[in-house]
Amino acid sequence: MARTARAYTNIALIKYWGKKDKALKLPWTSSLSLTLDKFYTDTKSTIIDNDHDVVYLNDELLDDSSSLRIRNYLDVVRKMYGFNDHLQINSTNHVPLSAGFASSASGFAALAASVNETMNLNLSNKEISILARNGSGSATRSIYGGFVEWIAGNSNETSFAEPIDENPDIDIVLLSVVISEAEKSISSTKGMELSVKTSPFYSNWSTLVASEIIKIKQAIANKDLQQIGEIAEHNALSMHALTLSAQPPYTYFAPETIRIIQIVKTLRQQGFLAYVTIDAGPNVKIICSKQSVKAVKDYLDKNVQNVSTFEAHIGKGIQYF
Ligand code: DP6
Repeated sequence: MARTARAYTNIALIKYWGKKDKALKLPWTSSLSLTLDKFYTDTKSTIIDNDHDVVYLNDELLDDSSSLRIRNYLDVVRKMYGFNDHLQINSTNHVPLSAGFASSASGFAALAASVNETMNLNLSNKEISILARNGSGSATRSIYGGFVEWIAGNSNETSFAEPIDENPDIDIVLLSVVISEAEKSISSTKGMELSVKTSPFYSNWSTLVASEIIKIKQAIANKDLQQIGEIAEHNALSMHALTLSAQPPYTYFAPETIRIIQIVKTLRQQGFLAYVTIDAGPNVKIICSKQSVKAVKDYLDKNVQNVSTFEAHIGKGIQYF
């Protein structure tokens, strides 16, 4: 019996924002993330005697349109590894929309690992990372725990993640501040395409990412959380500058997003370690230390209405059971 694969979500500290190959999901730049312990997807797959794949999410059978992205992905996997079998996929998502995280990273990482198990493909973690990338870019990194780099590469074989430090002894806590659970109006896939095509700053972004990856790896090696936070915040805000400078311009920020950014700045001036990072949505993730997280959370609870917070710590790579 094939085992269930579990993959955790990750938060990018240096963002992936733009593809040079849409079909293969090859990014223009490398990126770097922290795998989180709280939110994950469990996936089991079974070979079925059927002419199409069947997908269950949280025990519910998905209809054709909801399962399309997964079925198209399984077509890609069949082609890559030369098998014809169809699969039943049973996935349970422990990445609640209400926690402000997208589930495609843990979802496609768990799916890739699960298909490897069921089809006895005997893939290395590097190859599972490549397989996950074909489902969703951010999934490439969820194969490993701790700090992970996705090396951009320039072909299917050369674009994969590598662990930087799977068990870092760094005092980092991520506080997710949930402003809205609504679906984002522009998907990350569409948003990044618009930024690449139309933002006059896109070439500067590539240069910036190259230098910030070097700097943040040094900060990780030095266990310098303040430096990690400073670089991550600057990188995230620079990514969002690519949305505002696109044509037509767009933004993922809600008014509350800006408010939280300002609050974090104020807390920092009061001496608390806190830096923001923001993905393709209005929710803000605050990089804190074990020491600062309580004060940051208390301040938000007291001063901002209608937001909830979730705490996450350093998570592991793919697990099987
Ligand atoms: C802002 O991985 O969701 O979270 O490859 O098109 O599926 P696709 O995009 P996706 O984009 C993630 C964008 C991001 C930054 C990041 O995680 O690096």
